[in-house]
Amino acid sequence: MHNDLHSIKEAVREEADKALSLQDIQDLKVRYLGKKGLLTAKLKSLGSIPREQRPEYGSLLNETKKYIEALLDKQEGIFKSVELSKSLQSQQIDVTVPGCFTPWGHLHPITKVLDEIVGIFISLGFTVEEGPEVELDFYNFEALNFPKDHPARDMQDTFFISDDVVLRTHTSSVQVRTMEKNTPPLRVIAPGKVYRCDADVTHIPMFHQLEGFMVDKHIRMSDLKGVLQLFIHRVFGRETSVRFRPSFFPFTEPSAEIDISCVICKGSGCNVCKGTGWLEILGAGMINPRVYEMAGYNPDLYTGFAFGMGIERVAMLKYGIDDIRLFPENDKRFLEQF
Ligand code: DAH
Repeated sequence: MHNDLHSIKEAVREEADKALSLQDIQDLKVRYLGKKGLLTAKLKSLGSIPREQRPEYGSLLNETKKYIEALLDKQEGIFKSVELSKSLQSQQIDVTVPGCFTPWGHLHPITKVLDEIVGIFISLGFTVEEGPEVELDFYNFEALNFPKDHPARDMQDTFFISDDVVLRTHTSSVQVRTMEKNTPPLRVIAPGKVYRCDADVTHIPMFHQLEGFMVDKHIRMSDLKGVLQLFIHRVFGRETSVRFRPSFFPFTEPSAEIDISCVICKGSGCNVCKGTGWLEILGAGMINPRVYEMAGYNPDLYTGFAFGMGIERVAMLKYGIDDIRLFPENDKRFLEQF
């Protein structure tokens, strides 16, 4: 009987040595120590052993059981730690593997230029006003001293919604809207989209303008010159020359077009400035008293100036872009350059 237990020990040891996995050890545990296991069966049959042999055999049986338990627990521990380290290894993160590149977007060049220009005027104390893009003929034309059938309306290639409603052709439409709601002093800029039925290298049917105007007592042409010169120097650099050229707009009197020395050739003449050394950048003038009348202001009391510029035009000059159609096209090869 003692030999019997001894050979069980040997058998377990041999099998445990041959075990290849945690599962093998757990199977051995079931086979020897489980409810229906070999050793459990021996313990149960202790009653059938002759009484005088029972104590000795019993204690031997217990000892054998403890031995097997200890042996299999130890083996189990070894397999468990091997499996743990395997699974840790498989989860290891290789920090040297190159990451996935997520491309970054950025602001559209028009937004950048617009933000820069708005920032300059805000620093001069101007406030921002907005008006509707679908606008009454009244604010777009009539109130700005363009009577119906006035030839100056032809310059604007208007999209009509109805006889009285248009897509605004310029942000000058915000002038009278703002004057109606406020009393001077006014220092306002109105950036936004405008629409004209026109398309070629220098024209697109939807583009951006920024209107500016200042109304108070005793505002003079020299104030206009000072503000615009400062603005131009900030955007294009202090070395840029500025020139006022007489022009005509129904809502300003006198009116001027403002040129800057060519940003490409610095004034010596190139094909961007068509050999003139100058580039047109703004329309401006002293607000026509007729506009104050339309807004309900006393034209004898107030004076002021207004100016308007195309944002795409400023961006083209600033970045040296020769085709305005690139802006709305959304070609990444173009946009990525900014
Ligand atoms: N609204 C004019 C245009 O779109 C630009 C302009 C010219 C605005 C003279 C002004 C101005 O305020 O005084 O062509």
